[in-house]
Amino acid sequence: MIRLAADTAHTKKVLRPGPSLYPLPAVLVSCAGEVDGVPRRNVLTLAWAGIACGEPPMVSVAVRPTRFSHGLIVSSGEFVVNVPSVAMCRAVDLCGNLSGRDGDKFALAGLTAAPASQVGAPLVAECPISLECRVRHTFSGGSHDLFIGEIVAVQADEAVLDANGKIDIVKVDPLCYGGGFYWPLELGRRLGDYGFSRK
Ligand SMILES: Cc1cc2nc3c(=O)[nH]c(=O)nc-3n(C[C@H](O)[C@H](O)[C@H](O)COP(=O)(O)O)c2cc1C
Repeated sequence: MIRLAADTAHTKKVLRPGPSLYPLPAVLVSCAGEVDGVPRRNVLTLAWAGIACGEPPMVSVAVRPTRFSHGLIVSSGEFVVNVPSVAMCRAVDLCGNLSGRDGDKFALAGLTAAPASQVGAPLVAECPISLECRVRHTFSGGSHDLFIGEIVAVQADEAVLDANGKIDIVKVDPLCYGGGFYWPLELGRRLGDYGFSRK
């Protein structure tokens, strides 16, 4: 290990290693597959999701192998990342506290399954944005398996598009999760546009 000369003495408290990254999105991941020859659909809540690549566009989701959804994603090789709005907080919490093993979570959470355009897994109709994904890589880190899915289609509600047909994040009103709580993003205040520091 090479230690570079520092500008200051050490000032921060060293904590034990953990997933201390904020903010995290709270998303609903929908999936479908066969369990003992019976077709099943499911939806679970994830906070450990992120963009993994731009070209081709890819998203990563970290799923514990014990989740009912894990087997469905492995067997189908597909999943959909649905971005819920703040108004869907209750359904998001429910889908993260019940297992699809115990029943159809779409029905239990009052969510509507809609057809995707490129994958067999359903979308969550109430979510303003849905990313349809095909699994390209799987990395087993330990407690979680990381599925890296290529985004093969994006579906968006017209209500969250701006005049140029682009997704307006303020209209989406996405939900965040951190420190054991759900949070809205404070989107009313713009701090600067991309690259403003160089202008
Ligand atoms: C806010 C929140 C975030 C969560 N994030 C994850 C996650 O990133 N990975 C994961 O495997 N489980 C996560 N969970 C737990 C699963 O959603 C939960 O165990 C769910 O019941 C699994 O559903 P299933 O068995 O139907 O697949 C989260 C739960 C909540 C409420």
